[in-house]
Amino acid sequence: MLTAYDFPTAKIADAAGTDIILVGDSLGMVVLGYPDTLSVTVDEMLHHTRAVARGTQRALVVGDMPYLSYHISLEESVRNAGEFIRAGAQAVKIEGGKAQRIKTIEAILDAEIPVMGHIGLTPQSVNVVGGFKLQGKHADDAKRLIDEAVALDGAGCFSIVLECVPEELAALITERVSVPTIGIGAGPSCDGQVLVFHDLLGLYDGHTPKFVRRYASIGDEMLNAIAKYLEDVRSGRFPNGVTESFHMSSTEELKKLYGDSVVVPMPKVN
Ligand code: KIV
Repeated sequence: MLTAYDFPTAKIADAAGTDIILVGDSLGMVVLGYPDTLSVTVDEMLHHTRAVARGTQRALVVGDMPYLSYHISLEESVRNAGEFIRAGAQAVKIEGGKAQRIKTIEAILDAEIPVMGHIGLTPQSVNVVGGFKLQGKHADDAKRLIDEAVALDGAGCFSIVLECVPEELAALITERVSVPTIGIGAGPSCDGQVLVFHDLLGLYDGHTPKFVRRYASIGDEMLNAIAKYLEDVRSGRFPNGVTESFHMSSTEELKKLYGDSVVVPMPKVN
């Protein structure tokens, strides 16, 4: 699984063979420049989900329900989840596994909308857990996470994201639940893995957690390409007067413009 947030990145992720494209609320940080995911609205998520859906042919598109879109009432949660389906997602993801969340997930499932669970470090709870920290390090917390995973499985989630938990705990949960686990910072024992598009490709220069493997430095490549373009414009090397420019249809037309007596300028070749 990989995140994507717009038409071109969804097309690339899909063409590369990604099985699940998550329109993550991480877009708040990597695309919209917010300090965390809490500012992201349903409208912003839907806007990006539509673009991703248009760029995806093969992968399953999962829309990440943002903060406060599934916290107020069951009715509002189901309506918001339905908006993701209308925007082109085939499923939604919801953070948390406590009892109240299970009821919400059941209500959304009851509206025929598949739900992906997400436990461990749930960034929408950052203020309650006191930061972006490893979860389930101690046995009591780990037991709570196992119970939540089992409850999400029992409620009918089709998969569960495990974020930033010890490898040993992720292995145990993966063994205990009947649905695939998808890890991010949860070690190699999960059934699948997920990364944020901009982290994987080196497009985000904010904090990069230990669990991210950067496969390219696209941000640096973009910077170099743009710097070259600016240099070419400023030095007159771009655009080329022949290959990158349009021309009047014939010398006759040019003469009508410049007059017979004037020397017709030759296109600038640079
Ligand atoms: O928002 C997101 O990108 C996520 C993944 C990191 C799982 O929730």
